[in-house]
Amino acid sequence: MKIAIGSDHGGFQLKEEIRSYLAEEMEQDGAKPEVIDMGTFSEESVDYPDYGVKVAKAVVAGDVDFGVVICGTGIGISIAANKVPGIRAALCGDPFSARMAREHNDANVLALGARVVGPGLAREIVAAFFAGAFAGGRHARRVDKLRALEGQASGE
Ligand code: RB5
Repeated sequence: MKIAIGSDHGGFQLKEEIRSYLAEEMEQDGAKPEVIDMGTFSEESVDYPDYGVKVAKAVVAGDVDFGVVICGTGIGISIAANKVPGIRAALCGDPFSARMAREHNDANVLALGARVVGPGLAREIVAAFFAGAFAGGRHARRVDKLRALEGQASGE
């Protein structure tokens, strides 16, 4: 499994933590995921849309299976990621929501707020997100309706 991770300056420290958690500690189907760090690479001020969209485009292009995006609150970067058609980014502050985001919403991007959750809780949220699998069934019909909304918005 390939995961792209990105943050702005507000999420930089937590991105570093989560990047090493994903690459060194978490196992998915008995294997460690490959993690692609899309920046930012310091605490110098940057704009969260640039990083949210970078990760989102990598997911939609199929370069990676999932994305993790982090800013101060997680709000701005999740809004940015969700502007990319095909992205279902879920801003999660607890493990239950993270698991449900995968099981019910087939979320392909997890958003975290570094100024909202500490590193320990963030790890649990990440673990729950990647432990979840899309349940399909009635949820597939609902996710199809989300996809249809994207078509309407772009005039397709
Ligand atoms: C940056 O100061 C901050 O606005 C950003 O990280 C994020 O919280 C925006 O939603």
